[in-house]
Amino acid sequence: MRTIAVTGAASGICAATADRLKREGHRVIGIDVQPCDIVADLGTPEGRSHAAERVAELSGGTLDGLVSGAGLGPYAEPEDVIRVNYFGALAILDDLKPLLERGTEPAAVAISSIGAIFVEVAPDQAIPECLDACLAGDEEAAVAAIRGHSGTDAYSLAKRALALKVRSHAVDWGADGVRINAVAPGSTETPMLEEIFRHDEIGGPVRMLPIPIGRSAPPEELASVICFLLGPDARFVHGAIIHADGGSDCVVRPTAL
Ligand SMILES: NC(=O)c1ccc[n+]([C@@H]2O[C@H](COP(=O)([O-])OP(=O)(O)OC[C@H]3O[C@@H](n4cnc5c(N)ncnc54)[C@H](O)[C@@H]3O)[C@@H](O)[C@H]2O)c1
Repeated sequence: MRTIAVTGAASGICAATADRLKREGHRVIGIDVQPCDIVADLGTPEGRSHAAERVAELSGGTLDGLVSGAGLGPYAEPEDVIRVNYFGALAILDDLKPLLERGTEPAAVAISSIGAIFVEVAPDQAIPECLDACLAGDEEAAVAAIRGHSGTDAYSLAKRALALKVRSHAVDWGADGVRINAVAPGSTETPMLEEIFRHDEIGGPVRMLPIPIGRSAPPEELASVICFLLGPDARFVHGAIIHADGGSDCVVRPTAL
């Protein structure tokens, strides 16, 4: 039995991941702003500290796995998206790394998004001063830089910054024996996607996203990828951004490797 903390565990992909881990006999510590083992708002420094402290208490100071998946959709306020989807997601990874270092074959998985690629293919969506501030760890500068832009811009940028940070963390964390990877989901049937589809401006473009496999995914199909990355079958997978998107990335960025 492994002990695995999962943020965003009250809904969607992370709830499916928590369910699967529990079915496999693992102990899950769920963290969410909605009712969960630990209730915390990862958009605030206080909420992040509270979450990390409670995970340390409940786990006894040792974690074998961590999923940093809590997030807001592109329909949310851009400032909130930057705070939750980047700074909250990253703080949980960084704050809980010492617990992972004490675990057995420890592994962390961050949830990025197919949205991360749009900063690359639609340069008008790039906001370099915000991306730079994210990567420099300057939350207030990043929030100031995103003001006046859309939630979609903030979402793509936060998910791109998170994926980049996973890659740079892989370089540092490898020596400490902690694997870290990201999954970049495409259209996945969760409350977030339902809200996106209901949105007047965002719904249309997201529905148009080409999916070569011809369908969206139930959240369990993302949970299986996350559980693979957490587990022993992925022992040599480190610093990878795994696109689980039915092939959407191959259409949008056919030459990207
Ligand atoms: N559904 C998709 O199509 C899709 C595609 C790409 C990436 N993703 C990413 O996958 C992850 C899971 O999304 P989902 O589709 O399951 O969405 P969801 O809305 O079903 O679940 C997200 C969870 O995060 C929690 N959360 C939101 N803000 C929080 C905060 N401030 N503090 C703590 N918890 C907070 C919510 O309460 C919710 O339980 C997200 O990071 C999302 O960006 C989803």
